[in-house]
Amino acid sequence: MAETPAVFVRARRLAPARPATIRKLGPADLGAYKSLRDEALRLHPEAFTSDHQTQRTRTPESYLGRLGLNEPLGGSFLLGAFVDGPQVPQLIGSVGLERETKLKRHTATLIGLMVLPAHTGHGIGRALVAACIAEARRAQGLETILLSVTASSARVVQLYEQAGFTRYGLLPRALRIADARGERYVDKAQMLLNL
Ligand SMILES: CC(C)(COP(=O)(O)OP(=O)(O)OC[C@H]1O[C@@H](n2cnc3c(N)ncnc32)[C@H](O)[C@@H]1OP(=O)(O)O)[C@@H](O)C(=O)NCCC(=O)NCCS
Repeated sequence: MAETPAVFVRARRLAPARPATIRKLGPADLGAYKSLRDEALRLHPEAFTSDHQTQRTRTPESYLGRLGLNEPLGGSFLLGAFVDGPQVPQLIGSVGLERETKLKRHTATLIGLMVLPAHTGHGIGRALVAACIAEARRAQGLETILLSVTASSARVVQLYEQAGFTRYGLLPRALRIADARGERYVDKAQMLLNL
């Protein structure tokens, strides 16, 4: 199995007790990635386009394509934020980038920014986005990152703005969620960053 790529960013803002290390995820990380993603989908149904109920039945291996192992020019990857655990480092946050194909090949979409609640407010989300942009800049021929974010999440929109993204549109009623809290719609702000 390929060795996991080297560490390249450390997040430390509010002097957390346990600073996070950010690195690219590899095949051996997919079990931890699935656990983290399932928990984020369960806790934040409005934040993501996927829902917990259907996604929890996926296998860790089903996320292999997100690692970009077949993308020689770069621009498709998952990054993880790790803190020291009792035995091995624990994955507590993640973000991904998915490069488009064919005539959209110069663009990629930022997906799945998440940090476990016990670790929020320490700059890890901001560091993940910065690391994602830095890695995207290494990709050959990549020009633009797109993302969509729940429009009412002012704090998350601001996080992206501070990272350099600008808002170019709004998709009203982008999500229709029906769960124990009832049925509701979620608008999505559309943002982009030119690399
Ligand atoms: C959005 C998320 C990734 C941010 O992670 P994080 O590690 O807390 O982010 P940071 O610590 O880098 O904080 C980013 C900004 O939010 C602010 N912030 C952090 N925690 C906050 C809180 N509880 N209340 C208000 N603002 C807060 C920070 O102050 C920071 O802004 P500042 O640097 O100008 O002060 C995390 O909250 C999360 O996983 N949310 C649920 C999933 C989600 O919404 N994902 C986005 C999908 S598009």
